Amino acid sequence: MKILGIETSCDETGIALYDSNSGLLAHRLYSQVKLHAQYGGVVPELASRDHIRKAIPLVREVLQDAGLKTSDIEGIAYTAGPGLIGALLVGAGIGRSMAWALDVPAVAVHHMEGHLLAPMLEPNPPAFPFVALLVSGGHTMLVDVRAVGKYVILGQSVDDAVGEAFDKTAKLLGLGYPGGPALSLLAEKGDPDKSKEFKFPKPMTDRPGLDFSFSGLKTFAMNTINKHKVDGKLDSQTGADIALAFQQAVVDTLLIKCKRAIKQTGHARLVVAGGVGANKGLREALNLWPQTNKERKEADPVPEVYFPRMEFCTDNGAMIAYAGCLRLLSGQKEESVIYGKPRWTIEELAPVN
Ligand code: KG4
Ligand code: ZN
Repeated sequence: MKILGIETSCDETGIALYDSNSGLLAHRLYSQVKLHAQYGGVVPELASRDHIRKAIPLVREVLQDAGLKTSDIEGIAYTAGPGLIGALLVGAGIGRSMAWALDVPAVAVHHMEGHLLAPMLEPNPPAFPFVALLVSGGHTMLVDVRAVGKYVILGQSVDDAVGEAFDKTAKLLGLGYPGGPALSLLAEKGDPDKSKEFKFPKPMTDRPGLDFSFSGLKTFAMNTINKHKVDGKLDSQTGADIALAFQQAVVDTLLIKCKRAIKQTGHARLVVAGGVGANKGLREALNLWPQTNKERKEADPVPEVYFPRMEFCTDNGAMIAYAGCLRLLSGQKEESVIYGKPRWTIEELAPVN
């Protein structure tokens, strides 16, 4: 079954073609970063308009890349939420209308299900069950994934999402939007010994449970930055050291919670997905997990860790085409109505048989 995937939940237009027999056929991404950079963040109305401008040309391009015609499309998957309502409605409107015109089924995909299934597009996909650490600009959660559509949220952020904390701290450091990748690059120049001196907290790790809180880290970063300014300016090396200290605190916190989730569920696999999954520091720390466990003589189990490739950590159409394909193959489809759900809990999803 050949599925067209449409992702327009935020500031990236992602379009892909996935074939249930031969895998991913083509994918294209258009990032609106330049458009929003001048405002320091995503402007929802501009995002919607830009999706309108780019989505259909990208559909044509992926069809051309795959050597297919519109009439070869056998199903359509579009992100219906969570996300920005105007942006979602563009993808839903295009997806539903194309499905109606082509007389093929269409399915509304949950954006976070797309993220958590993204590692399935890799050559060595994880088997079920697994724990998913979903770290994006809007969500931070640990999910017990028993099967496609069988999700139990083990813990989530009570305030800022981790990507949001990266973006806000990057802004405080004078870095542009989107801040996560810029902060991560700056952190590479940080001095590990100096960064330890700032003593960033590891929020909510001193008590049991799997919830997160990241808004305090951003405030701690702000106070640290202000304390180290000389004549109202922050020395560039100190900025890099603070960036590294912030990133290390986030990574340590995520790792502590992942260890707890693995112990609690007994699952042997951990999937990390969402934009912050592209963070080098996080990827390194998770890959070094077996080694650090040995060094610290920790007896707790170490899971097999799975990431999507870098470009599928952040928003993309491939993950939506894939998630939608599984649902369409199981016979699920939507009525001919166009809707978007800006707020949508992943636990509401129907299982796929
Ligand atoms: O999953 P995503 O593309 O969009 C949402 O669903 O939100 O995630 C975007 C978030 C942004 O907050 C961005 O700053 C962050 O992921 N991000 C990163 C990195 N790349 C993207 N954060 C830290 N390090 C990175 N390398
Ligand atoms: Zn996302």
